[in-house]
Amino acid sequence: MTEPTTRRQYPTSNRSVARARSDALTFLNSCGIARENEFASDLALVVSELMANAVTHGRVPGTSGRQVAMSIEKAGSVYRIEVRDTQGDSMPVLGKPGDLSGEGRGLLLVDSLADKWGVRPERVGKTVWAEKEFNK
Ligand SMILES: Nc1ncnc2c1ncn2[C@@H]1O[C@H](COP(=O)(O)OP(=O)(O)OP(=O)(O)O)[C@@H](O)[C@H]1O
Ligand SMILES: [Mg+2]
Repeated sequence: MTEPTTRRQYPTSNRSVARARSDALTFLNSCGIARENEFASDLALVVSELMANAVTHGRVPGTSGRQVAMSIEKAGSVYRIEVRDTQGDSMPVLGKPGDLSGEGRGLLLVDSLADKWGVRPERVGKTVWAEKEFNK
């Protein structure tokens, strides 16, 4: 049996963050995880931070179109989020733990909410991924 997957492409605009979060919650709901569930809000937060990074730091000036792709794949009880952008000049860097004051808290949040996360360079741009297991 094939496991459910969702994949969409979004413009590099701030509005895409909320859209992707909503799409993620809809997908989880279709997998039987209600949006009120803490797992759903945690995963939605990870989607938000990765998407916010993709549309800001991963934006390539002068380009337009649906340059950011988000997918969520379910494999058993593990949910894997992938966010791909087309900017290959700089990579995500984890902020310093304990310093949650200014910027640089997004990936620290991802790091604490996800079981694992990482970056995969692509021919064009990169994919930032995060995995989290749903424990009933
Ligand atoms: N998709 C990306 N492409 C390029 N650089 C990235 C990407 N995501 C993150 N980075 C780099 O990693 C740094 C840390 O990301 P992080 O999300 O922790 O903080 P931030 O986005 O700067 O601030 P915050 O998320 O708190 O608003 C960023 O400042 C940026 O330099
Ligand atoms: Mg960020």
